[in-house]
Amino acid sequence: TAIHRLDYAPPAYWIDTVDLAFDLDPVKTRVLNKMRLRRNPAVAPQPLRLDGEELNLARVLVNGAGTSFKMEGGQLVLENLPEGDAPFELEIFTTCAPAKNTQLSGLYVSGDTFFTQCEAEGFRRITYFLDRPDVMASYTVTLRADKVAYPVLLSNGNLVDSGALEDGPNGPRHFAKWVDPHKKPCYLFALVAGKLVAREQKIKSRAGREHLLQVYVRPGDLEKTEHAMNSLMASIAWDEARFGLSLDLDRFMIVATSDFNMGAMENKGLNVFNTKFVLASQSTATDVDFANIESVVGHEYFHNWTGNRVTCRDWFQLSLKEGLTVFRDQEFSMDMAGSASARAVKRIEDVRVLRTVQFPEDAGPMAHPVRPDSYVEINNFYTVTIYEKGAEVVRMQHNLVGREGFARGMKLYFERHDGQAVTCDDFAQAIADANPGSELANRLEPFKRWYSQAGTPRVRAEGQYDAAARSYTLTLTQSCPHTPGQAEKQPFVIPVTLGLLAPDGTALPLQLAGEAAPGATERTVVLAEPQLTLTFVHLDSAPVPSLLRGFSAPVVLDCAYSDAELLTLLAHDSDAFNRWEAGQRLALRFAINAIAGSADQESAGAEKPLHPAFVQAMREVLRHPQLDAAFKELVLTLPSEAYIAEQLDVVDPQRIHAVREAMRAQLADELQADWAWAWEEHQDCGAYRPDAVSTGRRALAGLALSMLCLAARTSGDTVWPGKTYQRFKTATNMTDRFNALSALVSSGHELAQPALARFHALFKDEALVIDKWFALQASAPDRGGDVLPAVRQLMKHPQFSLKNPNRARSVIFSYCSANPGAFHRADAAGYVFWADRVLELDALNPQVAARLSRALDRWRKLAEPYRTAAREAIARVAAKTDLSNDVREVVTRALADG
Ligand code: ARG
Ligand code: ZN
Repeated sequence: TAIHRLDYAPPAYWIDTVDLAFDLDPVKTRVLNKMRLRRNPAVAPQPLRLDGEELNLARVLVNGAGTSFKMEGGQLVLENLPEGDAPFELEIFTTCAPAKNTQLSGLYVSGDTFFTQCEAEGFRRITYFLDRPDVMASYTVTLRADKVAYPVLLSNGNLVDSGALEDGPNGPRHFAKWVDPHKKPCYLFALVAGKLVAREQKIKSRAGREHLLQVYVRPGDLEKTEHAMNSLMASIAWDEARFGLSLDLDRFMIVATSDFNMGAMENKGLNVFNTKFVLASQSTATDVDFANIESVVGHEYFHNWTGNRVTCRDWFQLSLKEGLTVFRDQEFSMDMAGSASARAVKRIEDVRVLRTVQFPEDAGPMAHPVRPDSYVEINNFYTVTIYEKGAEVVRMQHNLVGREGFARGMKLYFERHDGQAVTCDDFAQAIADANPGSELANRLEPFKRWYSQAGTPRVRAEGQYDAAARSYTLTLTQSCPHTPGQAEKQPFVIPVTLGLLAPDGTALPLQLAGEAAPGATERTVVLAEPQLTLTFVHLDSAPVPSLLRGFSAPVVLDCAYSDAELLTLLAHDSDAFNRWEAGQRLALRFAINAIAGSADQESAGAEKPLHPAFVQAMREVLRHPQLDAAFKELVLTLPSEAYIAEQLDVVDPQRIHAVREAMRAQLADELQADWAWAWEEHQDCGAYRPDAVSTGRRALAGLALSMLCLAARTSGDTVWPGKTYQRFKTATNMTDRFNALSALVSSGHELAQPALARFHALFKDEALVIDKWFALQASAPDRGGDVLPAVRQLMKHPQFSLKNPNRARSVIFSYCSANPGAFHRADAAGYVFWADRVLELDALNPQVAARLSRALDRWRKLAEPYRTAAREAIARVAAKTDLSNDVREVVTRALADG
């Protein structure tokens, strides 16, 4: 049942127009689909095969007359169609059951409102169709429904007609007719119908065109839409300013739903969003929520060009739109953040996600290239590899041709491909062709191995200083581990941005042997062969290399730095990313030493893994007069347990957890006075604004509070927990309140329970806040195995629901994917819980179940007894005969040999 990229064939028919009429009813919705089709003259004549899923077929007419048809593997097959190239009419009448659609793919009901989700293959759950992205049609959509229950009727494009209909059994009925002026693939179709209200904004684009922007939510949520609307206006202005891309619609709508499988969806002119990425007020949303809303609103808006105007030929090209659009939303967030330091903070956050989530994916059983070669279920390939690694691949192209060159490349891309469904090759070709003579153009074919080869390359750097010659030789060597189905790899084209520091930290001018004069203090070299040797001259002493600045390529860099060299980089590197990275490398080193050293000791948690020089360096960063608070917070946050685990061949999650907790406790104790200072200095940010500066200050104050509560646990001090509870009670924004609550929960203080109860009472009617309340408890540090019973208890809470993805994620994913110290239990009870939930969820919502099924991706790395127990749990899931394709593919790959 696997589908292969190389089997791509153009469609045998084109669908030019689609006229859809819906009679919306939760129990039985009737869909009349009138299409105009014609044979694709480039393809040999063959029957028409239309995709369909869970549809009841009532009627098929060709040019108004009955016709013969058959069903084959879920497809509707028409063999007796008119011959020749002339267009013909095909009319299909079906019904479906939105209220029973718990998969949330196709047409479904969420809290009395109809929504659709068609990407990737949900449209076939609405009507029979050529459900593939290279078939682009013009849509006219008529919605008919009860007027009282569904006052708002939305679809893509422009509202051309609306009005009353004859009364139905439930009273008055009405209709709305929408015409989309742009051709689109069916995955971008959407409709929404229900009781909604909208925030509206009229804007004028640079060219003077007027647009109506609307953000639709449930009545009562309107005051939480200001930030989303501001983010949308900022996105529109940014795409015009940076890429010259304007909004091509009179009306652009965003609609929020609380039942959604993913973050959001870029349906043409009618984006549908998870409420989590729309609704925000200072009292219910954190700074992180505000930032996520800005970036997701931007992401979906940017898809209007990179995704909608130019779309994917087939789903193997998914990163064509997703990698590019993530790159664009990252750049948008950086430009919005403003200062160079705030840009660096955003870059560090993005790299942290890539390394803690994508690198493990690339090293595990689900590893796949940015442009995969095969899949069983495409929904399983909406991954961090397609999205985040794909964005890095675009970023490297951007950096190789420069900012202006990239803008030229984008312009050429749209000149060539506007209105088309294309491939990743087409994109890279346009960027290269617009920049002849660039490093990208010169090495385009080998560069494109980033699209075809899976796995994270490793770059080993070795430096040799020759005092007599006053030269420094740097050797870079690349390799890439095997991944499933790809044993041998060709060399990657790896841009390495670098600088050299003198031992006192000053930046040295770079001069390669053979160059006439010293150049700038930073340059980018391209490692395109297995090895590259560079000799820098005129150096008075051994320099400290600062490599892969700004994370210039998605690789693992191995470099045998001494502690002293890392401390130099941490204190002085002009590149903020590498400054942060030096601290992370040191912390990682202490963690790994402690994990190895305590291999036979029960007392792992009681040790002090951090060296005094490191603690002192952390103190200096914390107290630094110039560094931004946001950057300090990143430096003072230790590498996550997941990231530490990735550095080890054999993973004992309990030991990692114990060592990291010991490191945290040591930082808390030894910097106690500094944390108290940091708290006093940053706790007051004035009136709430979610800008980069005050966000950073709140983050650092929050970290300080959690450290002070942690230190209080060892010392028995009650002052700081008391202050923290006070802060929790009196905070005027969710960031401060939630940080205080987490500080109490993560330090295990007895005030955590009353605080949690109070928090629930305050916010019991705020679904997104209740999600946080569930998630915080499910991801709390484990104390003697207490989290799993707590999680089971949470699942019995009246507000828990397995059917709501946000709620299921807040409890189950928080425990299974975000709490390794609690999930990996020697008694295997965490894995038993996981398998039960995967099976339970699979019957309701295979996409969500398949996400959860990935929590044990890295089981082969686990130490015993975890490894055997994890394999048994996966095998138990795999043994179920009626699994969805989604979960089946994940567990099959997990159990397959290497
Ligand atoms: N294209 C959407 C986005 O990146 C994601 C939709 C994915 N949906 C799915 N069911 N796989 O914004
Ligand atoms: Zn996207």
